[in-house]
Amino acid sequence: QNKEMINRGLFILFEGVDRVGKSTQVQNLVKFLNDKQLSTKAMRFPDRTTPIGTIINAYLQNSTNMDDRALHLLFSSNRWEAKDSIYQALNSGVNLVVDRYSYSGVAYTAAKGIDFDWCYACEKGLPEPDVIIYLSMNSEDATKRGDFGGERYEKLEFQKKIKDIYESKLMTPKWKVVDANRDIETISKEISDIVNKELDIIKNKQISTIS
Ligand code: TYD
Ligand code: MG
Repeated sequence: QNKEMINRGLFILFEGVDRVGKSTQVQNLVKFLNDKQLSTKAMRFPDRTTPIGTIINAYLQNSTNMDDRALHLLFSSNRWEAKDSIYQALNSGVNLVVDRYSYSGVAYTAAKGIDFDWCYACEKGLPEPDVIIYLSMNSEDATKRGDFGGERYEKLEFQKKIKDIYESKLMTPKWKVVDANRDIETISKEISDIVNKELDIIKNKQISTIS
């Protein structure tokens, strides 16, 4: 390979149920990587800033109702509409630290009783994350955290179903499970150690797609 070519960026994903601390850890990892002079951007799904994201936001804030599959397709479209910018960032050497992606899409809709394979099919062909960090926590503890309960899905029984789908149907040996029930700095240190190790291994691999 041409030595002058820039290494591609890494696609690092955070997954987990509501209130496990994904957003804080995304911010900390973005800062950690930028401090190491590795150009890094944060991204989140749903992206509530697009027209599709506006419809999703209205649903999440309980102001509209929608058929479960129609909503699922919107969440999925909200990722497909970001596909080009994901590739653009990675191919220009920018690391992406992403807050939720296809696995949230599948876990949340399947937890409503919609067929798992149907849910998953919509995600096939999207760029696949290089590293998946799963923040793990007992549902009772997560629901006790501040701000819980404001949005549609923030109910204990539903959160338990989502956790079960993540852990019994989506998780593969490649996922890095991080105990989220500890102080922020301890968790951030564990995550930056994980990412440091992956940086060298992954940078020469091609970006794969979800299959
Ligand atoms: P969340 O990460 O909680 O956003 P914010 O930090 O802005 O509150 O996402 C909103 C909710 O949307 C959350 O309960 C998970 C759910 N969700 C889906 O149901 N499907 C999806 O595809 C995604 C990305 C999220
Ligand atoms: Mg939320």
